[in-house]
Amino acid sequence: MNKSTITIRLMKVDDFDAVVRIDEKVLKVSRSEYYKLKFETAVQSPDHLPTSLVAEEKDGTVVGFVIGELYIGEYGITHEKATLDTIGVDPDYQHKGIGEQLINEFMDHVRALGVRKINTLVDENDSKLTHFFSANQFIPSKTINLERSL
Ligand SMILES: CC(C)(COP(=O)(O)OP(=O)(O)OC[C@H]1O[C@@H](n2cnc3c(N)ncnc32)[C@H](O)[C@@H]1OP(=O)(O)O)[C@@H](O)C(=O)NCCC(=O)NCCS
Repeated sequence: MNKSTITIRLMKVDDFDAVVRIDEKVLKVSRSEYYKLKFETAVQSPDHLPTSLVAEEKDGTVVGFVIGELYIGEYGITHEKATLDTIGVDPDYQHKGIGEQLINEFMDHVRALGVRKINTLVDENDSKLTHFFSANQFIPSKTINLERSL
């Protein structure tokens, strides 16, 4: 496989199993309930514009995905900020530029919808992911993520 055989397209409801499979391969735990909720919001909700994408091999195998959220609300007002919620590339296909391809297509897609800023949350101890986002021109935001233990 080389990068040019990969196509990026909008995520469909039918991609659910492939997304859950890739996530499970990456994290070694199944999070199908989590993705059920994510699909309801990002892929099926009329309050959100479709921004989530998958990377597909020539034979139709889904090998990566990015889930974005762009809330438009009941008046259809497009906000200038969108969220990049989750990104994942099948470990057998990593380090081939697919992650970068997904980010670039995601940026082009949401830019065309009027978005001017993308936010994402990353665990600072996840050096692979922080490095990946930094290599793709993400910088630390001015918003601090606060928490309180109970
Ligand atoms: C972060 C992640 C999306 C990156 O995907 P990827 O397809 O490997 O990304 P890329 O190939 O674009 O870039 C990764 C690295 O490969 C390098 N690379 C790109 N093309 C390459 C090639 N042809 N040959 C060798 N290396 C290459 C890039 O330079 C980059 O290196 P760097 O990290 O040193 O900058 C992927 O590692 C992943 O899914 N991680 C888990 C994320 C996660 O926990 N998500 C939540 C659950 S799914």
